[in-house]
Amino acid sequence: MAPAPEALLESRPMSPPLELQGKHIVLGLSGGIACYKAAELTRELVKAGASVQVVMTESAAQFITPVTMQALSNRPVFSDPWDARAPNNMAHINLSREADAVLVAPASADFIARLASGRADDLLGLLCLARPIERCPLLLAPAMNREMWAHPATQRNVAQVVADGGVLFGPAAGDQACGEVGDGRMLEAAELRDELIAFFQPKLLAGRRVLVTAGPTFEAIDPVRGISNHSSGKMGFAIARAAAEAGAEVTLVAGPVQLPTPRQVRRIDVVSAQQMFDAVMPLAPLHGIFVATAAVADWRPAQAGTRKIKKDGQAAAPAIALTENPDILAAVAALPAAQRPWCVGFAAETHDLLTHARAKRVRKGVPLIVGNLGPATFGRDDNSLVLVDADGERELPAADKLTLARALVAEFARRLPSSAT
Ligand code: C5P
Repeated sequence: MAPAPEALLESRPMSPPLELQGKHIVLGLSGGIACYKAAELTRELVKAGASVQVVMTESAAQFITPVTMQALSNRPVFSDPWDARAPNNMAHINLSREADAVLVAPASADFIARLASGRADDLLGLLCLARPIERCPLLLAPAMNREMWAHPATQRNVAQVVADGGVLFGPAAGDQACGEVGDGRMLEAAELRDELIAFFQPKLLAGRRVLVTAGPTFEAIDPVRGISNHSSGKMGFAIARAAAEAGAEVTLVAGPVQLPTPRQVRRIDVVSAQQMFDAVMPLAPLHGIFVATAAVADWRPAQAGTRKIKKDGQAAAPAIALTENPDILAAVAALPAAQRPWCVGFAAETHDLLTHARAKRVRKGVPLIVGNLGPATFGRDDNSLVLVDADGERELPAADKLTLARALVAEFARRLPSSAT
């Protein structure tokens, strides 16, 4: 049975889940100045619930001490293949059998070269080679000078390591410790944490293209005033992130919000409903899925003044005539079948949620409407949703918005026609 709308209001603020809870990560450090970021990375992984076993090469210890890494990971660091602490004296086997992933950050040019040729002359190389390749992925965060990264030898080695099943996180472009600017910079700790979280998500939308609208729109009255609403954009941004984590190529058309762009998401910023419409319509036929989470203003001032409306000398408050905005979702849902993505709409209501959501689904001509109680959720980090499709309703109980977004992505994947790209 579908929930009473009032029940949905009972959601309380919730902290985001510990995204790496239960994951055991071997964090390998090879020698490079980016070792300083590995300290922060260890903290980020531990904060996200992971247990972290640090393994360092001899050169890594020139850049950061095992003392620091032990203190942050709360575990003794391993570096030496002859370390006698392991009762069976096989640290390389034990460490790689326990791990859910080996993440080497930083991965130096030399370490990648050694991986490419299958060398096992130190503990980190040894355990990468000895890991069960099917169940313990090898993830690499390259970090080196831009000339070293671009060198054909490095590129050849990277291609070999990737062909052998390694996965690259980055590198990024930007300022380098040597003073040069270019490709080869290691991703920041928080970015690597998010890459790792994304890596563990099921790839339910691999090969799909997803277009998402998010946030409010702002309809100008004059150059300094306008009509908008309380939408924070958090739900739409969470859906864009969850779809990207699930392997989709994601385009996010965002109204005016101050939220960071989720990793691997292409973002287009707009202000008004008309701009959102103009951005979405040419993109829609290039996407297999369209998720309209934006709280688009239904009306805009018929005439936006080019100069500020002045209070002085006005006998009465000015009357503002409104005109209707285009309905983006309905327009996309009305595209010819060959150009039409599979459409999901949102219904934010203050009352009679189910009745409105059912009616909206039919009126807009979309297969799925996701309902929530608008004012109860705007700006919050948690939400509860009800899914309305041709077969009936299904509740997604209160949770933080990212958890709900991942659950929605799973629902999309389950319902999608196989023809959607
Ligand atoms: O018509 P209403 O605003 O209640 O419908 C909400 C759904 O329609 C949401 O999915 C919203 O993103 C979408 N919508 C739209 N363009 C509009 C109005 C709403 O895409 N002009």
